[in-house]
Amino acid sequence: GAQMPDADLPMMADSFDPFDGPYQLDPAEALRWSRDQLPVFYAPKLGYWVVSRYDDIKAVFRDNILFSPKNVLEKITPATPDAMEILKSYDYAMNRTMVNEDEPAHMERRRALMDHFIPANLEQHQDMIRRLTREKIDAFIDSGRVDLVDAMLYEVPLLVALHFLGVPEDEIATLRTFSVAHSVNTWGKPSDEKQIAVAHDVGRFWQYAGQVIEKMRQQPDGTGWMHHTIRMNQEIPEVVTDSYVHSMMMAIIVAAHETTSLASTNMFKTLLTNRQAWDDICADPSLIPNAVEECLRYAGSIVAWRRQTTAPTTLNGIDLPEGAKLLIVQASGNQDDRHFEDAATFDIYRDNAVDHLTFGYGAHQCMGKNIGRMEMRIFLEEMTRRLPHLRLAEQEFTYLPNTSFRGPDHLWVEWNPAQNPERITP
Ligand code: HEM
Repeated sequence: GAQMPDADLPMMADSFDPFDGPYQLDPAEALRWSRDQLPVFYAPKLGYWVVSRYDDIKAVFRDNILFSPKNVLEKITPATPDAMEILKSYDYAMNRTMVNEDEPAHMERRRALMDHFIPANLEQHQDMIRRLTREKIDAFIDSGRVDLVDAMLYEVPLLVALHFLGVPEDEIATLRTFSVAHSVNTWGKPSDEKQIAVAHDVGRFWQYAGQVIEKMRQQPDGTGWMHHTIRMNQEIPEVVTDSYVHSMMMAIIVAAHETTSLASTNMFKTLLTNRQAWDDICADPSLIPNAVEECLRYAGSIVAWRRQTTAPTTLNGIDLPEGAKLLIVQASGNQDDRHFEDAATFDIYRDNAVDHLTFGYGAHQCMGKNIGRMEMRIFLEEMTRRLPHLRLAEQEFTYLPNTSFRGPDHLWVEWNPAQNPERITP
């Protein structure tokens, strides 16, 4: 793009608003000017320093002592006094989990709880993910038109998450309201009026999380990661604290579910928009794993994350005071030409796609990344085999306005059922 004159830079920085049009439309494109000319800048409307280049974002992720994650789950739009009262009435006490915990507590806890996430222990979930995916596809394959979010991409990652965690599946519908409320509460900009409704939902989510833990404590032999967590809470309560267990019960549902649903929705939208790539993976499924990485790079579901400085420092020549809050925009880093050749182009053959920052980096890098990847791979394997003639329907896409979680609310697709391969070659 054309470079803007330097005199415009302070104006661009002053007017930057992540809840506004350009960033909501395309966060990477909205920060191109910053990547090119002012890669670290203060955004007064947000009260955060914005970091837009790949190397700088990675440097921030790499040093989790100087750049603490303690503000990761803070409300980016402060609660109104009314909302605060409501939250208090539910005894809401969301605190440190894993993602926002400082050292040394974080690493001790992460080590104590890592086992379930290692690839060898994830193998056992493959069949469950494939079965759930097939059941959903069976239900719509003859219809010729479906919203992939409602029909599959919302619920399968939720069921996989609940299964992995060992959480009972009885309240799936309620959870949907809760997750949206948690996202808006943490990364959104609700109006004063909306804050009230969100505070009630967040308060209920908090109490629900407490009840689930109580229920799970009654089953000491239960399987799944949260059961393991509860047992560790009994064995090493100073590492896996009570507060952690309750806070994590609420946060992990969003961390495991919303992230994967949105990433999968972005993936189908991107591949069907880039038809050649879709046709290529239909013809050669061995291309799928790298296509998944390229989708996570080009259209990831976490577009920005946060950190806070614990001492004065400089980043790419810019002085930051102690306590500076940073918005590190992975979507922008993922489209930085300094790291990815021709970064704005979607290319499933890209050899360094896996370098993307969508799962974060360093000590806090996503523990569930291989679960997310596995789900996305299986969705593509099943859909390209059974619906290679799938196409995107005409539609307007809508997004939940927020700084960090990104993906369309719905994704309508169409195909001619008479051409389904399994009808032609049963
Ligand atoms: C942390 C993204 C799926 C569990 C994170 C972080 C990001 C992220 C950006 C923070 C990383 C950092 O600070 O360096 C994603 C995306 C996913 C996904 C894009 C899907 C495509 C999952 C799943 C689970 C999960 C499926 C669990 C089943 C966690 C946990 C952490 C984390 C426990 C905290 C790790 C720590 O602080 O040590 N994730 N995530 N995530 N994620 Fe994920």
